Amino acid sequence: MKGKTLVISGATKGIGKAIAYEFAAAGVNIAFTYNSNEAQAQKIAEDLMQKYEIKAKFYPLNILEPETYKDLFKSIDEDFQRVDFFISNAMIYGRPVVGGYGKFMKLKPRGLNNIYTATVNAFVVGAQEAAKRMEKIGGGSIISMSSTGNISYIDNYAGHGTNKAAVEAMVRYAAMELGEKNIRVNAVSGGPIDTDALKAFVNYEEIKNATAKLSPLGRIGQPEDIAGACLFLCSDKASWITGQTLLVEGGTTFNTKC
Ligand SMILES: NC(=O)c1ccc[n+]([C@@H]2O[C@H](COP(=O)([O-])OP(=O)(O)OC[C@H]3O[C@@H](n4cnc5c(N)ncnc54)[C@H](OP(=O)(O)O)[C@@H]3O)[C@@H](O)[C@H]2O)c1
Repeated sequence: MKGKTLVISGATKGIGKAIAYEFAAAGVNIAFTYNSNEAQAQKIAEDLMQKYEIKAKFYPLNILEPETYKDLFKSIDEDFQRVDFFISNAMIYGRPVVGGYGKFMKLKPRGLNNIYTATVNAFVVGAQEAAKRMEKIGGGSIISMSSTGNISYIDNYAGHGTNKAAVEAMVRYAAMELGEKNIRVNAVSGGPIDTDALKAFVNYEEIKNATAKLSPLGRIGQPEDIAGACLFLCSDKASWITGQTLLVEGGTTFNTKC
């Protein structure tokens, strides 16, 4: 992995940050994005470079404006020689998800559309730009973050869950059409992971406790649990894995015992 480059959206905290550290520890250069938290992005970039002697740079990105991925990749071209891996990780919450995060009868087209834009459109435009660069170097690996809320019920999660299902389908289509360029495309579907995004759920404590009960491992997931799976999928060890969704959910989805 040494000397390769990862482009990842939303690495100021949570899962994205853990992935950035996991890849940097393997010698991968990191181009990552932030949305609101520039100071934190700068701190992370400095820490990554100092700890792992790799190149790390941060760029602003709003996934509600997916077309801006084009300019982002142009900036990355100036700073990095190659793009080997792309991970579509960032997710919106707060105001933009009003009408998208809630019970079925409260869903509104605007909130749902915002989640579609941030989940599916952002993946598509980011992956297209990444694939153009990967093609030039003979291949690469693309991942979309997904969540098990698209296969098992989570309160208020209909908007996110359905869009995660959609992005997993998009991953399979992308995998079919990018395989001839030696680009593998997969999704990593996480069970509940203890991050700020989960803390924004109104029933965070309930989810945390229920997850620990459902998992035979007896705990909620941590960002690092997802990061290792992403490193594996991007490595040559996963060289014939494409068009798949890898579940990283602590065994929670099989357990229906009350
Ligand atoms: N946590 C879970 O339980 C869980 C489970 C399964 C899958 N996932 C998925 O994993 C991914 C990461 O989730 P997380 O829990 O790690 O979230 P998180 O800790 O809340 O981090 C979210 C990241 O997205 C960025 N972001 C927020 N709004 C944005 C916008 N409009 N445009 C661009 N970037 C934006 C944030 O940047 P700033 O800090 O700069 O604003 C931050 O870096 C998401 O795709 C999520 O659906 C999460």
